[in-house]
Amino acid sequence: MPNTQPVPQPGILQIDAYVPGESSVAGDLKPIKLSSNETPLGPSPKAVAAYRAAADSLALYPDGGANELRKTIAGHYGLDPERIICGSGSDELINLLAHAYIGPGEEAIYSEHGFLMYKIATLGSGGKPIAVPEKNYRADVDAILAAVRPNTKVVFLANPNNPTGTYLPHDEVRRLHRGLPAQVLLLLDAAYSEYVRRNDYEAGLELVATTPNTVMTRTFSKIYGLAALRLGWAYCPAAVADVLNRVRGPFNVSAPALAAGQAAILDRAHIDTAVAHNEKWLPWVAAELERLGLQVTPSVGNFLLIHFPAAPARSAGAADEFLKGRGIILRRVAAYGLPGALRMTIGSEDDNRRVVAALRQFMGQS
Ligand SMILES: Cc1ncc(COP(=O)(O)O)c(C=O)c1O
Repeated sequence: MPNTQPVPQPGILQIDAYVPGESSVAGDLKPIKLSSNETPLGPSPKAVAAYRAAADSLALYPDGGANELRKTIAGHYGLDPERIICGSGSDELINLLAHAYIGPGEEAIYSEHGFLMYKIATLGSGGKPIAVPEKNYRADVDAILAAVRPNTKVVFLANPNNPTGTYLPHDEVRRLHRGLPAQVLLLLDAAYSEYVRRNDYEAGLELVATTPNTVMTRTFSKIYGLAALRLGWAYCPAAVADVLNRVRGPFNVSAPALAAGQAAILDRAHIDTAVAHNEKWLPWVAAELERLGLQVTPSVGNFLLIHFPAAPARSAGAADEFLKGRGIILRRVAAYGLPGALRMTIGSEDDNRRVVAALRQFMGQS
């Protein structure tokens, strides 16, 4: 019997569509939105000015090769511009890599509480997502290596990971790479790398520079404050860059995004301010929440995973409702296998103080 309607490819209907962080609450309250790991400082004013200037040329297609932006990124990090590929957010690059390298029935590995897009991109390619257990909310290199099979095509690793905030030191990432067969692509997703202040951390540039099967992705959505524009980039081996150039749309990044991204990366002072803000408030919020008796997973990103008690009145779901009633939006992370936790983005000083005060009340301590 012929199908009575168009049928999508295998895997597509297994995808639970990504649910973004909420952005509004009931009533007239102006919400405090700490649900998507955006920066409370906003973008560099220079990026905003470049974005506005781009309004004069909206009739023209953007530079399809993102040449100026790639040159600027290359100059900033000391990279080969030919091996940089820009995308409409790093999500697009993750998807393109999955579509290019994972075929029907082939496997891609990610860690248990890893970023959700890895599963979505794998299923979207007809592949089989393999979630590997973590240890203490951290990716487990031995478990990942034990899950590799002859038909494994990609290992996805967010470092630091969202939503746990944990990271793997460079030695561990190197050990992971050493254990992978040469045909497996290791995708290091370094969306939060600018926030990390650890001597043993490396975002992935070194491995990409020295190995033929590692790709690093980066984003302008987090510390650069340009989430609305959708801009990310990947640093790749030459052969992978060639593949991405074949499969990406010819004008996959808009002209305002290219202009703003270039100005943003050159404004080091703005990034330094954002790092300093996070360095001050991340430990402050963590300590205050622990004082309330909540468990907080140690984070090196701009967000915290907060674990709530099992008692229904003190649970993550109850906390979420309580906070929303006060105009505060954190992120439920049940879809990440963490039904007992909420993720909180580090906000402005005022936001952070208000969340802590509200949770103090929720925990019955005010
Ligand atoms: C680990 C990780 N990778 C990638 C992304 C996607 O970023 P982009 O806005 O560049 O698509 C996010 C966004 O939340 C993320 O947390």
